[in-house]
Amino acid sequence: MPVSLSMTRRLAVLASGRGSNLQALIDACAAGTLDDEIVLVVSDRPGSGALARAADAGVATLALPRFAGEDRPGYDRRLADAVIAAEVDLVVLAGWMRLLTMEFLGHFPGAVINLHPALPGELPGTAAIERAFAEHRAGTRSRTGVMVHFVPDEGVDDGPVIATVEVPIEPDDTLDSLSDRVHDAEHALLVDALRQLSSTRSPSPALAHPKGSR
Ligand code: GRF
Repeated sequence: MPVSLSMTRRLAVLASGRGSNLQALIDACAAGTLDDEIVLVVSDRPGSGALARAADAGVATLALPRFAGEDRPGYDRRLADAVIAAEVDLVVLAGWMRLLTMEFLGHFPGAVINLHPALPGELPGTAAIERAFAEHRAGTRSRTGVMVHFVPDEGVDDGPVIATVEVPIEPDDTLDSLSDRVHDAEHALLVDALRQLSSTRSPSPALAHPKGSR
């Protein structure tokens, strides 16, 4: 009997916000565009749209707000414990609005990817679309973009690039119309990047289920 190396990849998605990028992944998994299973969605914001979308899709959810006075490494240790317990192959930051320390990242070498609504080296940090639009209004920018990259360390929106796409800024754009165009690009690029990674991954996944028994 032939042995197949193909194995459904197990994803944890970390999301703070409305979860439209999570939804793109849920839809792609359901459609078979991605041979992945989202096994856990974590949000640091208990009322987030991302948690509601995950629950609607029957995906396990975890609301993990920060304790009062808790430091970043302490939070990240709790987060890592939850993700390790889910035995995932890849961690996807899809609108995760907390900077991660090595207390988390050190557990998942080569297995954390981030989506950012700007091109590599441009507009790191929050409100990237708003800043791109402001630069356009000031006459210094005619395009922005989206990238998906690995997160090896504590650099902000920085790391080896997996995929990018440029997004034009039209002369009559409003912040809303530009935001809609960037978000559409994000939804497509995130799925493309995951497909790309699955077609290039080696038989032994980057993340070897550190504490799991799979
Ligand atoms: C996206 O623009 C993402 O790149 C940014 O936050 C937004 C999250 O959107 N970091 P959503 O929660 O996926 O709808």
